[in-house]
Amino acid sequence: MQDQEGMSGRLKSAMREAGRADLSSMFRLAYVSEASDCFGPDDLSEIGRKSAERNAEADITGLLIMDEGKILQVLEGEKNSVESLFAKISGDPRHTGVRQVSGSEQGTRLLSCWSLVSGAGSTAPESLMQEFHAMHARMSAGEGLTDITKEEVELLKVIALFRSVPL
Ligand SMILES: Cc1cc2nc3c(=O)[nH]c(=O)nc-3n(C[C@H](O)[C@H](O)[C@H](O)COP(=O)(O)O)c2cc1C
Repeated sequence: MQDQEGMSGRLKSAMREAGRADLSSMFRLAYVSEASDCFGPDDLSEIGRKSAERNAEADITGLLIMDEGKILQVLEGEKNSVESLFAKISGDPRHTGVRQVSGSEQGTRLLSCWSLVSGAGSTAPESLMQEFHAMHARMSAGEGLTDITKEEVELLKVIALFRSVPL
């Protein structure tokens, strides 16, 4: 009897550990970049369409804002999947000056239902876009990695909703 209890105790703690490992394996990465001359007029919607499919297959969520050539993307998912996608994105000739600003294990997704690319042509309030450009400039100038904050992600979500091309 005691053995059984011991076993169920061990089982419970193993399950707790597994749950913890699962939660802590959620990785959030953010980068900034600038569109290059190779970035054509249809590229943003093409990237949005293809990414929605591919990211969903890899269980990656996130969002991408592009305005006046400035790009900021946040990707969330399993660490290896996010890092291998980011390696591919970094080598894409359609943007330059790719700078990873954040990359860390996180307990929960902030973008669990998001697979959204903001449309370059749609509008968002000017004050929000000023905040976006200030954030982009700060992140481009910074050194090393810092966590992108929940508030920063919330601002990006609001902008994406105003300017979104739902996928
Ligand atoms: C700014 C930017 C963001 C991108 N984001 C994604 C993305 O989230 N998911 C994705 O699959 N591809 C994304 N891509 C496209 C990839 O760079 C790459 O072209 C695509 O994954 C196809 O790669 P493959 O056909 O060599 O496998 C992005 C490209 C750019 C320029």
